[in-house]
Amino acid sequence: MFNVIESNMIVPNLHLLTLEAPEIVPEIQPGQFVILRAEQDGERIPLSISDWDLEAGTLSVIFMNVGVTTGKLAALKPGMQIPTVVGPLGIKTEIENFGTVLCVGGCYGIGSIFPIARALKELGNRVISVIEARSNYLFYWEDKLKQVSDQLLYITRDGTKGYKGHVRRLPQIIQSVGSKVDRVIVNGCSLLVKLSSDVTRPLEIKTIVSLAPIMIDGTGMCGVCRVSLGETTRFACVHGPDFDGHEVNWEELAQRRKMYFNEESVPLQTSRCEEHAEKILAEHLNLE
Ligand SMILES: Cc1cc2nc3c(=O)[nH]c(=O)nc-3n(C[C@H](O)[C@H](O)[C@H](O)COP(=O)(O)OP(=O)(O)OC[C@H]3O[C@@H](n4cnc5c(N)ncnc54)[C@H](O)[C@@H]3O)c2cc1C
Ligand code: FES
Repeated sequence: MFNVIESNMIVPNLHLLTLEAPEIVPEIQPGQFVILRAEQDGERIPLSISDWDLEAGTLSVIFMNVGVTTGKLAALKPGMQIPTVVGPLGIKTEIENFGTVLCVGGCYGIGSIFPIARALKELGNRVISVIEARSNYLFYWEDKLKQVSDQLLYITRDGTKGYKGHVRRLPQIIQSVGSKVDRVIVNGCSLLVKLSSDVTRPLEIKTIVSLAPIMIDGTGMCGVCRVSLGETTRFACVHGPDFDGHEVNWEELAQRRKMYFNEESVPLQTSRCEEHAEKILAEHLNLE
C-alpha cells in the first residue's frame, strides 16, 4: 500500500497528489510516468511524474479530474492509502546541452514540464518556459518554474496574462527570444501538443511531445497505446511517451483516444449518480 502524503486541488479541477513510494523515487527520470490504482478493483491509469523528493521518498503527480478514477484520486486525503503505484515507466526525456530550449506546458503539463526544465537548466541550456491556460487563475507552480528557467512566459486564451491566444502564438514567442531556438519540448493535453507541433513544423525546430494515448498494462504487452510515426508503429508506454511531434499521425491518435468513449461515460455517470444519491441520503439522514 502507498501512503498519501498530500492531496489538494491547486487550481480549479487540477489536483496535486503526493505519495510515499521510496522504492520508486530513486529511479525516476524527467519525462517518466507512473500507473496508479485508486482502489483494489479499480482501473489502472497513467499519470506523469511532476516532482519527487529523494530524501522523503515521495513523488507528486498533477491530474485533471476527468472521470471515474481521477475522481476517486481527487477525493483522497492525507493519511489514506492506495494499492498500486507502478513505475517509473516510459523512457526519460532526452536531456542534453541543446542550447536554447522552449519548454511548453499546459494543464497538467505545467507540472510535468518542471523536472524537464530543471534537468535542462542543470546541463547549462538556456531554458525558456512557456505555460498556457484558458485564464490567469489556472496557472500554478510559477515560482518553481521561474527558479529553473531563464524566462517564464505566459499564454492565456482570454488575454488575462502574457500573450493572448493559444500555442499558435509560439512562432511569435520564438521570434522574440532573441536567439535561435534549438528544441521545443511540449507536455500537456493532446490538443496542445498537436497544435504546438503544427506551428513549429514550418520553422523546422525539432519538437518533442509527450503523448497520452489510452494505456492498459503500461509494459508493452497489450498494444493499446500504439502510435504511428510515418511508417513506424511504436508503443507509447515503452518507446515513449516522448516522440517527435512532426512525425506523429495525429488523426489516428485522436481516433484511438475516442475508442472507449461510450464505455468510459457509463461508469462515470453511474458513479456521479451514486455520489448524488449518497449526498441526498446523507442530507436526508441529517434532517431526521
Ligand atoms: C503517459 C501518460 C501520462 C499522462 N499523464 C497525465 C497527467 O500527468 N495528468 C493528467 O491529468 N492526465 C494524464 N494522462 C491522462 C490520464 O491517464 C487520463 O486522464 C486518465 O486515465 C483518465 O481516467 P479516468 O478514469 O478519470 O477518466 P475516464 O472516464 O476513463 O476517461 C476520461 C478521459 O481520459 C482518457 N483516458 C482514459 N483512460 C486512459 C488511459 N488509461 N490512458 C490514457 N488516457 C485515458 C479517455 O480517453 C477520456 O478522454 C496521461 C496519460 C498518459 C498515457
Ligand atoms: S499500454 Fe499496453 S502496450 Fe502500452
